[in-house]
Amino acid sequence: MKLDPVSLVAAGLLLLMALVIVALFSGLSPEQRLVATTATPSATGSLMSGQSLSVTASPGLAGSTRPVVDPVRVPTSAAAFAVQGSFPANAEIPPVSRSDTLKPFMNPKARLAEGHWKGLEALPLSVELKKKLRLPMELEGLLVDEVTLNAAAAGLLAGDVILAVNSQRIRTLEELKAATLRIQLAKSATITVYRAGKVQNFLLVAKNSLGQAQVETAPMILPGEIMPHPYRGPCTQCHAIGTTGHIVPDPDGIVLPPPAIRAGTPAPHKDRGPCQACHQIIQ
Ligand code: HEC
Ligand code: HEC
Repeated sequence: MKLDPVSLVAAGLLLLMALVIVALFSGLSPEQRLVATTATPSATGSLMSGQSLSVTASPGLAGSTRPVVDPVRVPTSAAAFAVQGSFPANAEIPPVSRSDTLKPFMNPKARLAEGHWKGLEALPLSVELKKKLRLPMELEGLLVDEVTLNAAAAGLLAGDVILAVNSQRIRTLEELKAATLRIQLAKSATITVYRAGKVQNFLLVAKNSLGQAQVETAPMILPGEIMPHPYRGPCTQCHAIGTTGHIVPDPDGIVLPPPAIRAGTPAPHKDRGPCQACHQIIQ
């Protein structure tokens, strides 16, 4: 291959430029190299984990990494927190970023989750439960998940599905409550259950009176608690949200309140119910 002097000079210049770039870059820390090699400032912002002069110097950039907090109007310490991802020593926690003052959120239409009657505990027979317990999908009733006292004495077993009380068809906890209200002064009632493919009757007997079934919703949960179950829809359809309704005596279960958000901010998570149930909304 024959090379003319012009192309030789051009190649030499290119090599020199490459050497200069390598020399420049080798003097930088890995983080600095990231900044230098990434084209857009917003990208550098999201890549930084430790301190970054380019990001902290320009509060406008915080918005591109944390669209939730409007950096212009948020106190400086909060902006620093948002950018750096950890609290600087002795930084003040701005009251605006906490939801400690929220009142418990209770949805008056929250679904009932549990019924108790004469020693039995019953749950709505959801599709999720039918699948897990391999019950026929067309089955409608209440799943007995615990038996003690009179219910156990009657011969009921956990896993039975209540179909009727004194021939009154039961599909929901509301229906159980209504049916037991009618016979609350009686001393016995026939419970019809589905068990292992068969329909069977049991006689529930009380010493004084049967009384009315008591019902409750799913437990009150802390805003921010982790779901121990699969996603079932907006949390507030079933749970009250608050810090006062339920204790889990396990320090690992402690969750800090979710941050305050600006009105109109889109949720980065799935639908969990009305935003104000868990977040303080800044107008
Ligand atoms: C049942 C409680 C709950 C509800 C209801 C809820 N959120 Fe959240 N949200 C949280 C928790 C807890 C976090 C903290 C991170 C996480 O757990 O995903 C969070 C995080 C956020 C964040 C990120 C905040 C940050 O600074 O990191 C935004 C934004 C947000 N939610 C917006 C919304 C909006 C908008 C709605 C209503 C459409 C909503 N949330 C409804 C509990 C809730
Ligand atoms: C369709 C009703 C329903 C929805 C919707 C629902 N849950 Fe639950 N959740 C329950 C029931 C019922 C229980 C009780 C245990 C069980 O059945 O898994 C429960 C239990 C819990 C528990 C354990 C509570 C305790 O202290 O024992 C937590 C935490 C929880 N859910 C969080 C959530 C969160 C967070 C959401 C929203 C993302 C959510 N749940 C949505 C019904 C629901």
